Amino acid sequence: MITALISKKGGVGKTTTCVNLAAALAGIGKKVLVVDLDSQASASLSLGVPREKLAPSIADVLLHSMPVGEAIRPTRTGGLDILPASSDLTSFDSIMASQPNKELVLGKRLRHAESFYDFILLDCPSSLSLLPISALVAADNFILPVVPQFLALEGVRNLLPTAERLYQRFGKRTDLLGIVLTIVDYRTKVNRTNIDTIRSQFGNSVFAIEIRTNIRLAEAPSEGKTIFEYDRTCAGAKAYRLLAAETLIRASQLGRRNSASTTA
Ligand SMILES: Nc1ncnc2c1ncn2[C@@H]1O[C@H](COP(=O)(O)OP(=O)(O)O)[C@@H](O)[C@H]1O
Ligand SMILES: [Mg+2]
Repeated sequence: MITALISKKGGVGKTTTCVNLAAALAGIGKKVLVVDLDSQASASLSLGVPREKLAPSIADVLLHSMPVGEAIRPTRTGGLDILPASSDLTSFDSIMASQPNKELVLGKRLRHAESFYDFILLDCPSSLSLLPISALVAADNFILPVVPQFLALEGVRNLLPTAERLYQRFGKRTDLLGIVLTIVDYRTKVNRTNIDTIRSQFGNSVFAIEIRTNIRLAEAPSEGKTIFEYDRTCAGAKAYRLLAAETLIRASQLGRRNSASTTA
């Protein structure tokens, strides 16, 4: 199953969620691959890949036809592999500009890796440029992290019609696995009000677990560690374990719903 962590807005916890959800899923015995699609390589660095060892990266796979297996490497977390990003990714949009069906290239390249993993998580840059769009097309479903602050709903309103348009164009549906509320601070009234609004508007589409502000989650990446390596007993680690458990339930519900609709 391929899941994209996506949002046009930056700083909403896409990378933090991608890395720690992946580590939590690996912790319960799943085979997981993180594909870093952000030229800043935050997910790769957070998973302990040294900056000078980012190559070979997804850029080589996408731009130089390197077989995907040659760029994938293990992390220190058992069962969790990384396909790193590098700054070469910044030229992806311009190099691909005139290619027909350029949105399909990522999915085609990842197909060779799919059978080796239970979960492939795509960490997207904060935009709706070619790479995140390609990620949406390649993915079976997507997770949309939202910080319940001012204008939080804009991000959701942008993305759902985009997913629908891609379905019209490529004929492959990408389901919303869930909206996850991140960097939540219950002390502020605006957070509480926005959570209520988002939950009443999107109901079941919102993960029950909310990821609260936790300083340990912000500290771990600077040591190139997942939250479970950095402080496995902190509230952030517990939250991502619960998110992983809920992800498994939601994924199996989506799987059941989709197989019912294809046999109907
Ligand atoms: N639950 C959290 N508590 C505290 N800080 C967080 C939390 N989630 C993310 N952060 C921090 O917020 C910043 C933005 O998160 P990040 O995952 O990089 O967002 P994005 O990938 O969407 O741009 C980072 O500095 C990260 O360490
Ligand atoms: Mg990021």
